[in-house]
Amino acid sequence: MEVIVKNSYEEMSKLAAEMIAKIVRSKPNAVLGLATGSTPIGTYKELIRMHKEEKLDFSNVTTFNLDEYVALPPTHDQSYRYFMNDNLFNHINIDKKKTHVPDGMAKDIPAFCKWYEEQILKAGGIDVQLLGIGGNGHIAFNEPGSSLGSRTRVKTLDEKTIKDNARFFKTIDEVPKYAITMGIGTIMEARSLILLANKENKADAILKTVEGPITAMVPATIVQLHPKATIITDKAASSKLTREYAEEPSVLKR
Ligand code: F6R
Repeated sequence: MEVIVKNSYEEMSKLAAEMIAKIVRSKPNAVLGLATGSTPIGTYKELIRMHKEEKLDFSNVTTFNLDEYVALPPTHDQSYRYFMNDNLFNHINIDKKKTHVPDGMAKDIPAFCKWYEEQILKAGGIDVQLLGIGGNGHIAFNEPGSSLGSRTRVKTLDEKTIKDNARFFKTIDEVPKYAITMGIGTIMEARSLILLANKENKADAILKTVEGPITAMVPATIVQLHPKATIITDKAASSKLTREYAEEPSVLKR
């Protein structure tokens, strides 16, 4: 696991985008695992810039998103499908048919989850999975206590996550209580991981993830076991780390 501490959110986002772009350039039909939330927005902006100014080509790329709220239709402005269209897909030359976001409106959710896993395998597996991290150490919607071997399934959102997400809804009662999420086992099968964290409110979670013991109570700690994981933070999110970390990834990784 490599930990890179950048000076700012912009620099963190630029590096993540550069790492993703490098994969897309070397493998035009790459399979990208994507995340929503506030953290990756800068990375998506940079990928859009690279598409517009440097002709980064997404026409053969396939994507799988980590998660989606149950019972929010794709037209709802807080659904993750809406978020992905708005923040990335509508601005690049990707074929929307190759973009996958879990279907929160699926009638048979267990059957849908099985199908989603099959589609990832059929696409050849995920080349790079982008991750954010919850203040409680969750990855995707795998809340503390989630099985470290879990697969795509429906999860009840943690009280803290509901509170964290309330800022996106008119009232806290409107925040969905359930989500479909890739499992931790699913995420760990990606060929590489990039976990992003910025701001002070992620500092405790990053300390536990980087320097703490692996535990289901902090799901992100599992990335310590991934053979090709990069954690990129800004200064604030890394402020509680006790060791020195690099500002640039090793040449071979970049
Ligand atoms: C979103 C996701 C979540 C977020 C996490 C951090 O697809 O999987 O785990 O990455 O909740 O959210 P932000 O980036 O809004 O702080």
